[in-house]
Amino acid sequence: MNILKDKILRDGIALNSEVLKVDSFINHQVDVNLMKKIGIEFANHFRDKNITKVFTIESSGIAPALFTSLELNVPMVILKKQNSKILNDNFYTTEVKSFTKNTTYNLTLSKNYIDSDDNILIIDDFLANGEAAKGAIKLVENANAKVAGIGIVIEKAFQPGRKALEDLGYEVYSLARIKSLDNNKIEFVN
Ligand code: G4P
Repeated sequence: MNILKDKILRDGIALNSEVLKVDSFINHQVDVNLMKKIGIEFANHFRDKNITKVFTIESSGIAPALFTSLELNVPMVILKKQNSKILNDNFYTTEVKSFTKNTTYNLTLSKNYIDSDDNILIIDDFLANGEAAKGAIKLVENANAKVAGIGIVIEKAFQPGRKALEDLGYEVYSLARIKSLDNNKIEFVN
């Protein structure tokens, strides 16, 4: 998506060879016009997949997921991060390890917001190691529902997330694929 790549080149900062800072338009301040276009792009890509709900992981996935669900006219569900296990039968829970932030959290989903006949589109802002997306997939599978695909705003293609998700049999559609952040220079796959 060229408009996104141009924005990344203009306003993104390669903090080091691993981390791209996009605080000014995705992670802190949000460029809502760009998010709207991102939502339309995801919706157009997955429109024929009979999506029943869009799932995202709090917090930075919410903006692109919201516009995607608006465009597909389906509910958006925010998977919640909890520090401690919820001892409650009404939730599906799975543990997620973040290598980037060196933290572990429990991702939770109320059983009220998923059914076995749901066909879920997962949307997130970043794909690094794929751990958050794998956690989301587990929650959907716990409910015996289906994952129709995974939409990612920025994929760090030099990290193993895409392979991990494709090996599980899922389609990953990324709007910008970063080849390298070496020497403070942002390079795309194509
Ligand atoms: P993974 O899910 O693909 O395995 O990624 P990982 O756990 O390693 O990353 C965890 C958090 O770090 C996520 O945010 C993710 O968006 C963020 N992240 C990963 N790489 C980058 C990067 O290069 N730049 C930026 N800005 N963020 C990155 P989170 O903990 O879920 O927090 P939130 O921002 O959604 O609130």
